[in-house]
Amino acid sequence: MADVYSSIADVDYEVQESLAKVLELRAADFQQRDMLKIYLGDIEFPEAASALDVGCGTGVVSRELASRLPFGHVVGIDPSPVFLANARKLSTDISNLKFVEGDCRSLPYCSESHDIIVFHTTLSHVPRPEEAIQEAFRVLRPNGVLAVFDGNYTTTTLANGEFDPLQTCADAAMSAIVHDRWLIQRLPLLIRGAGFSIKKQRSLGIVETHEPEYMLTIADRGADVLAASGRISAELAQALKDEARRRVITGCFFGSIAYGSIVAHKAR
Ligand SMILES: C[S@@+](CC[C@H](N)C(=O)[O-])C[C@H]1O[C@@H](n2cnc3c(N)ncnc32)[C@H](O)[C@@H]1O
Repeated sequence: MADVYSSIADVDYEVQESLAKVLELRAADFQQRDMLKIYLGDIEFPEAASALDVGCGTGVVSRELASRLPFGHVVGIDPSPVFLANARKLSTDISNLKFVEGDCRSLPYCSESHDIIVFHTTLSHVPRPEEAIQEAFRVLRPNGVLAVFDGNYTTTTLANGEFDPLQTCADAAMSAIVHDRWLIQRLPLLIRGAGFSIKKQRSLGIVETHEPEYMLTIADRGADVLAASGRISAELAQALKDEARRRVITGCFFGSIAYGSIVAHKAR
């Protein structure tokens, strides 16, 4: 199953619009906001710095970076014109922020032109992520900062125990929305290999039980993927979605994903 984000510009307009809504829904969750604050806290923000939010989606992180750089400027880059249209709509009042269409493996900037580059749940969706990290190294100024935050998607769980059918939904969803579930494990090697020195590494995560907005989308998307591939019927997919909601009502829903962050410096 191919990751829908890996070739996002080729995906139907309606699918991109619905993913744009999921990105904003996910970002509104207090646990997601806390994780963002925690790892951005590992970065020193000179007020006039220039920052790139690579794989910006609808611009959640770009907006946060712009608020931290009142005399600097921020560019959000993404290959999806639909996400970028949403990002522009959501930031009309922010003067130090703009959005540009592009690919992280070939950034449209000169060498040593920026101070901060952030990849927020982007790299696990990108085939050949080492090229993106090398590009970040090229574009960053000496002493520039690279921040990578991503899911440890091997840990995504909806299971309450062994052989839980909702875990099959979680696994199917991950196969459809993440290119490399093991990226976070390889990240330190990739980052050091590009020439960066790692300043801070963190293990973070989310858990949803009684109001599982985002994790319910994982259950639903997994059930839809299984039905679309013909492995289960539409009726069984609906029954799996109903089971997730039954667990919410009875208080036994459990969904969680571990995340990780690395903040590194361009040492030379
Ligand atoms: C899960 S979304 C995260 C979006 C945003 N960073 C956020 O956290 O809301 C992954 C993003 O990576 C983008 N993406 C996928 N391939 C990319 C590439 N080659 N270069 C830059 N961005 C890419 C997708 O379009 C999508 O916006």
